[in-house]
Amino acid sequence: MKRIGILTSGGDCQGLNPAIRGVAKALYEAFGDVKIYGIKDGYKGLIEGEYEIMKKSDFSGILTMGGTILGTSRQPFKKMRIIGDDGVDKVQAMIKNYKEMKLDCLVILGGNGTHKSANLLSESGLNIITLPKTIDNDLWGTDITFGFHSALDVATEVIDRLHTTATSHGRIFVVEIMGHKAGWLNLYAGIAGGADVILIPEIPYSKEKIAEIIESRTKDGKGFSIVAVAEGAVSLEESKMSKKEFKAARAAMRQPSVGYRVAEEIELLTGHDVRVTVPGHIQRGGSPSAYDRFLSTMFGTKAAELIKNEQYGYMAGLKNNEVVAVPLSEVAGRLKCVPTDSQIIKTARSIGLSFGD
Ligand code: F6P
Repeated sequence: MKRIGILTSGGDCQGLNPAIRGVAKALYEAFGDVKIYGIKDGYKGLIEGEYEIMKKSDFSGILTMGGTILGTSRQPFKKMRIIGDDGVDKVQAMIKNYKEMKLDCLVILGGNGTHKSANLLSESGLNIITLPKTIDNDLWGTDITFGFHSALDVATEVIDRLHTTATSHGRIFVVEIMGHKAGWLNLYAGIAGGADVILIPEIPYSKEKIAEIIESRTKDGKGFSIVAVAEGAVSLEESKMSKKEFKAARAAMRQPSVGYRVAEEIELLTGHDVRVTVPGHIQRGGSPSAYDRFLSTMFGTKAAELIKNEQYGYMAGLKNNEVVAVPLSEVAGRLKCVPTDSQIIKTARSIGLSFGD
């Protein structure tokens, strides 16, 4: 009998349920006699020993469902080794609960922070396999993460819908797209939705340049403009700051987020009225796209294959259209940002898109 734990950690996204289903179905096929422990709310459940022994039927009917049937939570990696007020040693508690469940392997679905903790558990001697989840697509070791494609569909639809109202009114719109410290989601959605300016964290922006583009569009008779701003976008001035200075500047920022700041800057420099749209968590909500269902299933079944081969300490990643095993030690703590000399950036520039630089 194989005993396998599964947990989902960090911000949720579309594709978690299809991935869980993929792992479970492939495990039942591979071993027949398998007990799956569904750990609740991510690492929190592993720390507190909150889990449920799943039934085969629990994994049916979830392919098209958004969110995660296991629940999730954020347990920051930097606090993992710190003993809290409750006196609990989180790492020791997770090891103890893993051993009490007599797990052969724990499958962890998560993004960047989650992978740092997964690597820590792997280095502590637990058998760990991970799957790359995040709408941000910023995980090292995989060409694409699941969740990204669905969020891209949502973000693109937001830009599409803004286009029609922006055109009718001849207005300037700023749309703020998620993505944390990487610009993937905004870059792809900006290109797919036909934004006029795309601001991403990897290319610091100049407000004067954005104003210049809007003015030149106005002169050309285009009364509207769409400025797609990644939530992690930074100005040229900010890019020159130390980490400490940047933190202080952001803490002192009057506007609720960078999208609002960019809107204000455009208003001041051009005199145009600017509207702001922040789709926020809508981008990670709802059903997974067909591609995410497919990708999550591919990743999930790879996890079962690795377990069968007793190949632990790996993440299933997509490289050149093949699902491969990537060592966790290579993934943990490394952010995958948009290379500024990438073909995507060149393509965008070649059709006259501006990055505000
Ligand atoms: O990592 C996914 C993500 O949606 C980011 O794009 C965003 O910065 C963050 O999570 C939001 O976090 P929370 O769900 O904790 O508000």
